[in-house]
Amino acid sequence: MKLTTMADISHEAIMAEIRSDMDTIALDQSLYDEKNFEKRRDALDFLSFQIIDQLDDLLHKTAPGAELNLVKRRAEKLKTELDEIDASLFQQFRKKIQTGLRREEFKTVVGEYINLDSNDNPHHDEPGYDNMDEFINGLLSFQPMPEQTKALEPEMVFYQKTPARIVFELVVKADFKAGDVFFDLGCGLGQVAILVNLLTGVKAVGVEFEPGFCQYAHDCAVGLNLSNITFINADARSADYSEGTVFFMYTPFSGQILQDVLDILRKESLRRTIRIITYGPCTTQVELESWLKRVGAPDDNVYKLAVFSS
Ligand SMILES: C[S@@+](CC[C@H](N)C(=O)[O-])C[C@H]1O[C@@H](n2cnc3c(N)ncnc32)[C@H](O)[C@@H]1O
Repeated sequence: MKLTTMADISHEAIMAEIRSDMDTIALDQSLYDEKNFEKRRDALDFLSFQIIDQLDDLLHKTAPGAELNLVKRRAEKLKTELDEIDASLFQQFRKKIQTGLRREEFKTVVGEYINLDSNDNPHHDEPGYDNMDEFINGLLSFQPMPEQTKALEPEMVFYQKTPARIVFELVVKADFKAGDVFFDLGCGLGQVAILVNLLTGVKAVGVEFEPGFCQYAHDCAVGLNLSNITFINADARSADYSEGTVFFMYTPFSGQILQDVLDILRKESLRRTIRIITYGPCTTQVELESWLKRVGAPDDNVYKLAVFSS
């Protein structure tokens, strides 16, 4: 006769809880309604990080029994089913963009899936990401990220995305006018430039040091049928800014490189008024430029967008 140990009891209790959690997810019909993106996202996170990870842990610690493998396969099948709803929703959304969904209409459709209320951002003093980033990544950055091929200089900052919620906020704060030309300096995979173009229709230009990122951004814009947008593979110190009126920087570089680029922009400002919008630590250095005036009240929090005008 096999004795039942405490370990057996706790294993059984964990398995019972996992089975019950999976039943709850599988029976919740609202998760299969494509509009319930945020709720589905939470269920997918729970499946990946609570259920599947826990099953992997059990498989690692105990002799792999047929039942454990069966439950894991069920969890993975459930995850695939929910992932497929999102994949199909993004495919349909991309088709709408390809055939001209822009500006307020684009924003309205995003708002059908994601709470656009900017007060919903739980991260006020760090570049925090939320379900809106999951949504925009699924829509725009669904291809694997390319490798970095060029070594960055010490003052150059590695790729990190501006949170999508901040880009929506940028569009409101920038108050774009017809004829504005938006530049994202150090544009990475191009998400900021693409979103600004989609949300406003203004011409957008991304400047990026890493050729692989620049190509990725270009392919994404072409795939969405966006015409008023260009990606330039260049060092921001040698790009042509002659048509730019609004320049965005999510701290792409610091120190002397930032100073050199600010000197170039100051020369541009002698020909027309320009605005610079910053996010992250570069704000502190930009604020020291005497030819720029901060628009709105100063704020010590560098993870709030800062708008400057020449
Ligand atoms: C913090 S990321 C910002 C990415 C993008 N603006 C966004 O918000 O999604 C900084 C980017 O700047 C690029 N970068 C760094 N130094 C650069 C330079 N001198 N010229 C152009 N791009 C540069 C990096 O390769 C990286 O993609």
